[in-house]
Amino acid sequence: MFQQKKPEQALRVEEVPSHIAIIMDGNGRWAEKRGMSRSEGHKKGIETIVQVVESASEASVEQLTLYAFSTENWKRPKSEVETILRLPVEFLKTYLPRLMAENVRLHVIGDIRPLPVYTRQALKYAIDRTKNNDGLQLNFALNYGSRNEMVEAVKELYREVQEGKLSLSELNEEHLSKHLYTSGLEDPDLLIRTGGEKRLSNFLLWQLAYTEFWFSDVLWPDFSNQDFASALEDFGKRKRRYGAV
Ligand code: IPE
Ligand code: IPE
Ligand code: MG
Repeated sequence: MFQQKKPEQALRVEEVPSHIAIIMDGNGRWAEKRGMSRSEGHKKGIETIVQVVESASEASVEQLTLYAFSTENWKRPKSEVETILRLPVEFLKTYLPRLMAENVRLHVIGDIRPLPVYTRQALKYAIDRTKNNDGLQLNFALNYGSRNEMVEAVKELYREVQEGKLSLSELNEEHLSKHLYTSGLEDPDLLIRTGGEKRLSNFLLWQLAYTEFWFSDVLWPDFSNQDFASALEDFGKRKRRYGAV
């Protein structure tokens, strides 16, 4: 007989991905559909971030990595880039107390050096304030690009070899991993991309080697707790083999 799965079974702790990465896509289209500016879509997207952080935290997810600004997003109109790079400031001004209350620790991956001073200052402050929290770790990928990340890692490894700190014959996957922005983080178990596109857009190319993918047509500002729960439920049904049988 077909037995219906109880809802709590879908969220059994051992089935919850410990690291979820999300490509938060669709803010612009969400706004355009409503005759609003793309920037309004990005602002609305913050509300989804807050919801998802809360849900992930409740589900005992350990790491949540959110793609917020790619190295390619500089190609957008100046005013849109400026809005996006101000979002961390607005987000943290409003929600830092909530992150503290939820015991969330903030971290950033990407090359933040070219970001405006106000963005870097807000992040630095929040990273410092949340550094002793031991709940969910929230990683914002800002000015993040996977290919650039790998080139930088190769340059650092080359220097180590040149200085005699590392021999070429010893160089292995672990060494490369340690030189990526994600050093110290486990690879994501689940990747979610909203907004209908089915591509990686230069996100975590190395780290997603064995990650489970889950795509949704829902635009990021409309992405609900229910959608997030569906992703987790689907993840719970996957069989990960890592090349074995
Ligand atoms: C994703 O939404 C957010 C960023 C890239 C910063 P988009 O702005 O790409 O939204 P669409 O894809 O144009 O709808
Ligand atoms: C990926 O979305 C980047 C972020 C979500 C930050 P994009 O909208 O930039 O990706 P493409 O251009 O559609 O590939
Ligand atoms: Mg997009």
